[in-house]
Amino acid sequence: MKHTTITIDGPAGSGKSTVARMVAARLGFLYLDTGALYRTAALAIRRSGCAIEDESSCGAVVARSHIRFSGDRIELGGEDVSSEIRSNDISELASRIASYPPVRTALLEIQRSFQDISSLVVEGRDTGSVVFPDAAVKIYLDASSAVRARRRHDELAGKGVLISYEQVLRDMELRDQRDSTRSSSPLVVPKHAVVVDTTHRDIDGVVQKILEIIEQSLPDQ
Ligand code: DC
Repeated sequence: MKHTTITIDGPAGSGKSTVARMVAARLGFLYLDTGALYRTAALAIRRSGCAIEDESSCGAVVARSHIRFSGDRIELGGEDVSSEIRSNDISELASRIASYPPVRTALLEIQRSFQDISSLVVEGRDTGSVVFPDAAVKIYLDASSAVRARRRHDELAGKGVLISYEQVLRDMELRDQRDSTRSSSPLVVPKHAVVVDTTHRDIDGVVQKILEIIEQSLPDQ
Protein backbone atom coordinates (compact mmCIF):
# COMPACT_ATOMS: atom_id res chain seq x y z
CA MET A 1 0.00 0.00 0.00
CA LYS A 2 1.19 3.51 -0.76
CA HIS A 3 1.69 5.50 2.42
CA THR A 4 1.18 9.23 2.78
CA THR A 5 3.85 11.49 4.26
CA ILE A 6 3.24 14.92 5.75
CA THR A 7 6.25 16.98 6.79
CA ILE A 8 6.32 19.77 9.37
CA ASP A 9 9.56 21.76 9.55
CA GLY A 10 10.50 24.88 11.44
CA PRO A 11 12.80 26.36 14.06
CA ALA A 12 12.94 25.41 17.77
CA GLY A 13 9.90 26.56 19.72
CA SER A 14 7.67 26.97 16.66
CA GLY A 15 5.37 24.35 18.19
CA LYS A 16 6.28 21.55 15.77
CA SER A 17 6.41 18.65 18.20
CA THR A 18 3.09 19.22 19.93
CA VAL A 19 1.33 20.10 16.69
CA ALA A 20 2.80 17.20 14.71
CA ARG A 21 1.86 14.72 17.44
CA MET A 22 -1.73 16.01 17.50
CA VAL A 23 -2.08 16.07 13.71
CA ALA A 24 -0.74 12.49 13.53
CA ALA A 25 -3.24 11.36 16.18
CA ARG A 26 -6.14 13.03 14.32
CA LEU A 27 -5.18 11.33 11.04
CA GLY A 28 -4.19 7.97 12.56
CA PHE A 29 -0.66 8.37 11.13
CA LEU A 30 2.65 7.55 12.84
CA TYR A 31 4.40 10.57 14.39
CA LEU A 32 8.15 10.79 13.70
CA ASP A 33 10.20 13.25 15.77
CA THR A 34 13.47 13.54 13.83
CA GLY A 35 14.93 16.01 16.36
CA ALA A 36 14.83 13.15 18.88
CA LEU A 37 17.02 11.13 16.49
CA TYR A 38 19.58 13.96 16.32
CA ARG A 39 19.48 14.35 20.09
CA THR A 40 19.99 10.61 20.64
CA ALA A 41 22.83 10.66 18.11
CA ALA A 42 24.40 13.49 20.15
CA LEU A 43 24.08 11.41 23.32
CA ALA A 44 25.65 8.40 21.57
CA ILE A 45 28.59 10.59 20.49
CA ARG A 46 29.00 12.04 23.98
CA ARG A 47 28.96 8.57 25.56
CA SER A 48 31.40 7.15 23.01
CA GLY A 49 34.08 9.62 24.09
CA CYS A 50 34.99 10.35 20.45
CA ALA A 51 36.39 13.80 19.60
CA ILE A 52 33.38 16.07 19.06
CA GLU A 53 35.12 18.02 16.28
CA ASP A 54 35.96 14.86 14.31
CA GLU A 55 33.03 14.74 11.84
CA SER A 56 33.72 11.33 10.35
CA SER A 57 34.27 9.61 13.73
CA CYS A 58 31.01 11.15 14.95
CA GLY A 59 29.26 9.82 11.84
CA ALA A 60 30.75 6.36 12.41
CA VAL A 61 29.54 6.33 16.03
CA VAL A 62 26.00 7.23 14.90
CA ALA A 63 26.05 4.64 12.09
CA ARG A 64 26.81 1.84 14.54
CA SER A 65 24.58 2.97 17.40
CA HIS A 66 21.27 1.26 17.96
CA ILE A 67 18.66 4.01 18.00
CA ARG A 68 15.02 3.01 17.93
CA PHE A 69 11.59 4.27 18.89
CA SER A 70 9.47 2.26 21.26
CA GLY A 71 5.99 3.82 21.24
CA ASP A 72 6.65 7.47 22.09
CA ARG A 73 9.94 6.67 23.88
CA ILE A 74 13.35 6.64 22.23
CA GLU A 75 16.03 4.11 23.05
CA LEU A 76 19.78 4.05 22.66
CA GLY A 77 21.20 0.53 22.82
CA GLY A 78 17.96 -0.64 24.47
CA GLU A 79 18.02 2.06 27.18
CA ASP A 80 15.18 4.60 27.38
CA VAL A 81 16.89 7.99 26.95
CA SER A 82 13.74 10.06 26.25
CA SER A 83 14.28 12.39 29.24
CA GLU A 84 18.05 12.59 29.07
CA ILE A 85 18.04 13.91 25.48
CA ARG A 86 15.94 16.95 26.47
CA SER A 87 18.70 18.64 28.52
CA ASN A 88 20.10 21.99 27.39
CA ASP A 89 23.48 20.38 27.09
CA ILE A 90 22.24 17.81 24.56
CA SER A 91 20.25 20.52 22.69
CA GLU A 92 23.51 22.33 22.17
CA LEU A 93 25.50 19.25 21.14
CA ALA A 94 22.69 18.03 18.82
CA SER A 95 22.72 21.36 16.98
CA ARG A 96 26.49 21.06 16.57
CA ILE A 97 26.67 17.47 15.30
CA ALA A 98 23.60 18.05 13.07
CA SER A 99 25.85 20.18 10.86
CA TYR A 100 28.12 17.18 10.12
CA PRO A 101 27.33 15.50 6.76
CA PRO A 102 28.39 11.99 7.96
CA VAL A 103 25.96 12.27 10.89
CA ARG A 104 23.13 13.43 8.61
CA THR A 105 23.82 10.58 6.16
CA ALA A 106 23.74 8.03 8.98
CA LEU A 107 20.33 9.30 10.11
CA LEU A 108 18.84 9.69 6.63
CA GLU A 109 18.09 6.01 5.99
CA ILE A 110 16.65 5.53 9.47
CA GLN A 111 14.20 8.37 8.79
CA ARG A 112 13.23 7.12 5.32
CA SER A 113 12.70 3.56 6.57
CA PHE A 114 9.61 4.68 8.49
CA GLN A 115 7.84 5.42 5.21
CA ASP A 116 7.74 1.67 4.49
CA ILE A 117 5.88 0.99 7.73
CA SER A 118 3.14 3.58 7.86
CA SER A 119 1.72 6.90 6.76
CA LEU A 120 3.65 9.58 8.62
CA VAL A 121 3.60 13.02 10.13
CA VAL A 122 7.30 13.86 10.33
CA GLU A 123 8.76 16.92 12.01
CA GLY A 124 12.23 18.40 11.92
CA ARG A 125 14.40 20.86 10.04
CA ASP A 126 14.91 19.28 6.59
CA THR A 127 12.15 16.69 6.37
CA GLY A 128 10.34 18.44 3.51
CA SER A 129 13.47 19.69 1.75
CA VAL A 130 15.83 16.68 1.93
CA VAL A 131 14.45 13.59 3.68
CA PHE A 132 11.00 13.42 2.05
CA PRO A 133 11.11 15.85 -0.92
CA ASP A 134 8.08 14.10 -2.44
CA ALA A 135 5.90 14.37 0.67
CA ALA A 136 2.20 14.82 -0.08
CA VAL A 137 1.89 17.92 2.11
CA LYS A 138 4.66 20.13 3.48
CA ILE A 139 4.15 22.63 6.29
CA TYR A 140 6.65 25.17 7.59
CA LEU A 141 5.87 26.50 11.08
CA ASP A 142 7.34 29.76 12.25
CA ALA A 143 6.98 32.26 15.12
CA SER A 144 8.93 35.24 16.42
CA SER A 145 12.07 34.33 18.38
CA ALA A 146 10.70 36.08 21.50
CA VAL A 147 7.58 33.91 21.48
CA ARG A 148 9.54 30.75 20.72
CA ALA A 149 11.97 31.44 23.57
CA ARG A 150 9.05 32.12 25.95
CA ARG A 151 7.48 28.75 25.06
CA ARG A 152 10.78 26.93 25.53
CA HIS A 153 11.40 28.73 28.83
CA ASP A 154 7.95 27.76 30.14
CA GLU A 155 8.54 24.16 29.06
CA LEU A 156 11.89 24.01 30.90
CA ALA A 157 10.42 25.75 33.97
CA GLY A 158 7.63 23.14 33.99
CA LYS A 159 10.32 20.48 34.25
CA GLY A 160 12.00 22.34 37.12
CA VAL A 161 14.99 23.53 35.04
CA LEU A 162 16.37 26.82 36.42
CA ILE A 163 17.38 29.03 33.51
CA SER A 164 16.59 32.67 32.69
CA TYR A 165 14.41 33.67 29.75
CA GLU A 166 17.30 35.79 28.42
CA GLN A 167 19.60 32.77 28.43
CA VAL A 168 17.01 30.63 26.60
CA LEU A 169 16.59 33.39 24.00
CA ARG A 170 20.36 33.69 23.49
CA ASP A 171 20.79 29.89 23.17
CA MET A 172 17.87 29.70 20.76
CA GLU A 173 19.16 32.49 18.52
CA LEU A 174 22.55 30.81 18.41
CA ARG A 175 20.99 27.47 17.45
CA ASP A 176 18.71 29.13 14.86
CA GLN A 177 21.72 30.77 13.31
CA ARG A 178 23.65 27.49 13.21
CA ASP A 179 20.70 25.43 11.91
CA SER A 180 19.95 27.97 9.14
CA THR A 181 23.47 28.69 7.92
CA ARG A 182 25.11 25.24 7.94
CA SER A 183 26.08 24.01 4.51
CA SER A 184 24.58 20.53 4.96
CA SER A 185 20.74 20.54 4.86
CA PRO A 186 20.16 23.95 6.45
CA LEU A 187 16.76 24.88 7.85
CA VAL A 188 14.87 26.34 4.87
CA VAL A 189 11.26 26.71 3.82
CA PRO A 190 10.91 23.62 1.57
CA LYS A 191 9.72 24.02 -2.00
CA HIS A 192 5.88 23.87 -2.13
CA ALA A 193 5.58 24.18 1.67
CA VAL A 194 2.72 26.14 3.21
CA VAL A 195 4.04 28.57 5.85
CA VAL A 196 1.97 28.81 9.04
CA ASP A 197 2.91 31.54 11.54
CA THR A 198 2.14 30.38 15.09
CA THR A 199 3.06 33.64 16.87
CA HIS A 200 -0.57 34.61 17.49
CA ARG A 201 -2.22 31.19 17.35
CA ASP A 202 -2.69 28.66 20.14
CA ILE A 203 -1.95 24.97 19.60
CA ASP A 204 -5.53 24.02 18.75
CA GLY A 205 -5.70 26.86 16.22
CA VAL A 206 -2.50 25.68 14.53
CA VAL A 207 -3.67 22.05 14.43
CA GLN A 208 -6.99 23.14 12.93
CA LYS A 209 -5.22 25.23 10.30
CA ILE A 210 -2.94 22.33 9.32
CA LEU A 211 -5.84 19.88 9.12
CA GLU A 212 -7.59 22.32 6.77
CA ILE A 213 -4.49 22.53 4.57
CA ILE A 214 -4.26 18.72 4.48
CA GLU A 215 -7.96 18.42 3.70
CA GLN A 216 -7.58 20.81 0.75
CA SER A 217 -4.53 19.02 -0.59
CA LEU A 218 -5.69 15.46 0.13
CA PRO A 219 -9.49 15.39 0.09
CA ASP A 220 -9.52 11.62 0.78
CA GLN A 221 -7.76 11.76 4.16
O1 DC B 1 13.78 19.86 17.11
P1 DC B 1 14.89 19.63 18.14
O2 DC B 1 15.21 20.85 18.96
O3 DC B 1 14.58 18.44 19.01
O4 DC B 1 16.21 19.26 17.29
C1 DC B 1 17.46 19.09 17.89
C2 DC B 1 18.57 19.53 16.93
O5 DC B 1 18.64 18.63 15.83
C3 DC B 1 18.39 20.93 16.35
O6 DC B 1 19.47 21.77 16.70
C4 DC B 1 18.42 20.78 14.86
C5 DC B 1 18.74 19.34 14.61
N1 DC B 1 17.82 18.74 13.64
C6 DC B 1 18.21 18.76 12.32
O7 DC B 1 19.26 19.30 12.00
N2 DC B 1 17.43 18.17 11.38
C7 DC B 1 16.25 17.60 11.73
N3 DC B 1 15.49 17.04 10.78
C8 DC B 1 15.83 17.61 13.07
C9 DC B 1 16.63 18.20 14.00
